[in-house]
Amino acid sequence: MTQNRPHFATRLGVIATTVGSAVGLGNIWRFPYEAGTHGGGAFLIIYIACIAVIGIPVICAEFVMGRASRRNIFGAFRTLAPRGGRWWQSVGVLGILGSVLILSFYSVVAGWTIEYLLQSLAGTLDAVASSERQIAFDRFTGGWRCVLWTVVILGLNCAIVLGGVRKGIERVSNLLMPLLFILLVTLAVNSLLLPGAASGLEFLFRPDFSTVDSSVILGALGQAFFSLSLGLGTMMIYASYFSPATPLLKSAATTAGLDTLVALIAGVIIFPAVFTFGAEPAAGPKLVFEVLPDIFYRMPGGAVWSTLFFLLLLLASLTSTISMSEISVAYLSEQWGMSRRKAVALNSGIVLVLGTLCALSFGPLSDFTVCGKTIFELFDYVASNIIMPLGGMLISVFVGWVLKRQTFDLELKPAPRMLLNALVFSLRFIAPGAIALIFIVYI
Ligand code: PHE
Repeated sequence: MTQNRPHFATRLGVIATTVGSAVGLGNIWRFPYEAGTHGGGAFLIIYIACIAVIGIPVICAEFVMGRASRRNIFGAFRTLAPRGGRWWQSVGVLGILGSVLILSFYSVVAGWTIEYLLQSLAGTLDAVASSERQIAFDRFTGGWRCVLWTVVILGLNCAIVLGGVRKGIERVSNLLMPLLFILLVTLAVNSLLLPGAASGLEFLFRPDFSTVDSSVILGALGQAFFSLSLGLGTMMIYASYFSPATPLLKSAATTAGLDTLVALIAGVIIFPAVFTFGAEPAAGPKLVFEVLPDIFYRMPGGAVWSTLFFLLLLLASLTSTISMSEISVAYLSEQWGMSRRKAVALNSGIVLVLGTLCALSFGPLSDFTVCGKTIFELFDYVASNIIMPLGGMLISVFVGWVLKRQTFDLELKPAPRMLLNALVFSLRFIAPGAIALIFIVYI
């Protein structure tokens, strides 16, 4: 089985798929609103520190486990841990649970991009006055179309995942990522010319540490894991499709670098507009969807920009949803011998039910809360702030302490010795220690 395992065809394919998984709504929708609710500049610095000190070592750890075992997260622990790693396999349970929760609420937001895309095409997005935009957004997310688009997203996701590894994932990602990048840079330049640009940049880049509390730090840690698709075995399963020649460290650094760059560019697009058009930086999940139309429709040819943007954002979301599904689908087909088709059907069936609940939590279920959070907020919080960092912590402990050092060095070859030592040091002490500390302080 190992020998027949499909590989990504090219190095560009490797980067485009891992970046395709990492770059998505996490950068363009979640990063700006998380930074907005958590005070801007200070959040950004803590977020970048989490990426550098914890994120990059954990990506390397996932890459090493994936390529060394050529298995899904369960199989990886079973193959690499001494005596089959019974206990370690429970990290796989976390991974699957986390990916199902994320896919459920992520599909809802990806569904919003369908609505905005169609409205851009129909010209109705521009017809709503700025002051009415919030009401229009609430009306849409509280209505049945929001549920319908969630279902459509899951359908599209199934279709791509069934296309198999090379055909489906690689082809979509190769084309999409560069296009999205060019569009984002253009929009950022446009935002820098807005009258509120200086205030927006100041909010995003000038740190005010007096506002930092444990929730800001946990939020930044969660955002780093969410944005890099870490801690659930996503990067692990993708690395299991890498060829033996793929340089892991370089790929990890490129993925983290590009992902962070896209989040920063999204911040540069959104915050000048927030301050120009009088939006509330702490508006939460609706922030980006309220502000973007104002940006587009003040540019010449607004409908074209808007259409192109939502189309690319939709595709970028799909390259992330397919990586979430791949965790469970690879598990069900490799560990349980299920056909890919059945595995996709089972995963999608469960997510369909949970995703519908998330979609309804903006309307009929908006009063149903657990610990003050709606179902949508709860899924996001539990998966991003708890399951992903916890999974990342266990993966670092495993690779740092349990995995043979020889396997680690061999997979990361030709990285210089000093860098390897630094990575192992982080995986042994810094990453798990920092995550544990953040958890303890938060509690
Ligand atoms: N990283 C993705 C994004 O930023 C989300 C994601 C999370 C993808 C977990 C896979 C696994 O949109």
